[in-house]
Amino acid sequence: MSSLRVHSLPESLGAGGQPVGCCVVIDVLRASTTIVYALAAGAREVIPCRTVDEARKLARDLPPGSVVLGGERHGLPIEGFNLGNSPAEYTPQVVAGKTVVLTTTNGTQALDRATQAARVLIGAFVNLTALSSMLAGEASVDLVCAGTDGQPTSEDVLFAGAVAAKLSSDSSWQLDPQAQSARRAWLELVAGPTATSAGLLAALGQSRGGQNLLAIGMQHDLALAAEIDRFSLVPSFDTRSGRITASDSRSSSPR
Ligand code: MLT
Repeated sequence: MSSLRVHSLPESLGAGGQPVGCCVVIDVLRASTTIVYALAAGAREVIPCRTVDEARKLARDLPPGSVVLGGERHGLPIEGFNLGNSPAEYTPQVVAGKTVVLTTTNGTQALDRATQAARVLIGAFVNLTALSSMLAGEASVDLVCAGTDGQPTSEDVLFAGAVAAKLSSDSSWQLDPQAQSARRAWLELVAGPTATSAGLLAALGQSRGGQNLLAIGMQHDLALAAEIDRFSLVPSFDTRSGRITASDSRSSSPR
């Protein structure tokens, strides 16, 4: 049997001495989606940083011309950075061949928490099937939702449910109660009256992260995040080097 656990916030990962399996870090709106877009656009790697200062310093220390500095605070671009945290900004023209140094409010913090795992992958709706296939051989998986400002967010839990639904089509997976409830939420959405993509877009718009983005006029990012399986790559975080690279060369380019 393989086990699947869902953490609606990163803090519960490994709490009470619980063993930690292969971790998937999820911040659908927008860090994990943006990381997939950046690598699909040909970025060499993404280096997540906890703080703005740390990101600035790292970018200064890397060879000039090799780095793109990206991220957000309160959803907005950071002064002096090249890019914000909108997936649309991470185009081949801007990031191909570059190291992206990224700092975000919740997503990069969740990655920091996941460093206790031997294997850390990054998931979003845009790489749902590729990620789920990659998890198939694992004995134990923890889906770690980044949440927003310490609160669970439905968009991340919904994605965890989509992964749980994919994996549990094979009866060798045992889902914890949170994984079962996330799976139910996803199955209710896909059984709903609207086509999955429209239903997902509406659900993202109602989520905490979605509401924050709508409030600052970034509705386009919801549509980009809702493109299920747009890419076939899976970002993999090497916890020793602190670098995220694409672990599947069959990635497709942004349209
Ligand atoms: C985060 O890491 O908190 C997010 O990705 C937030 C955002 O993109 O606005």
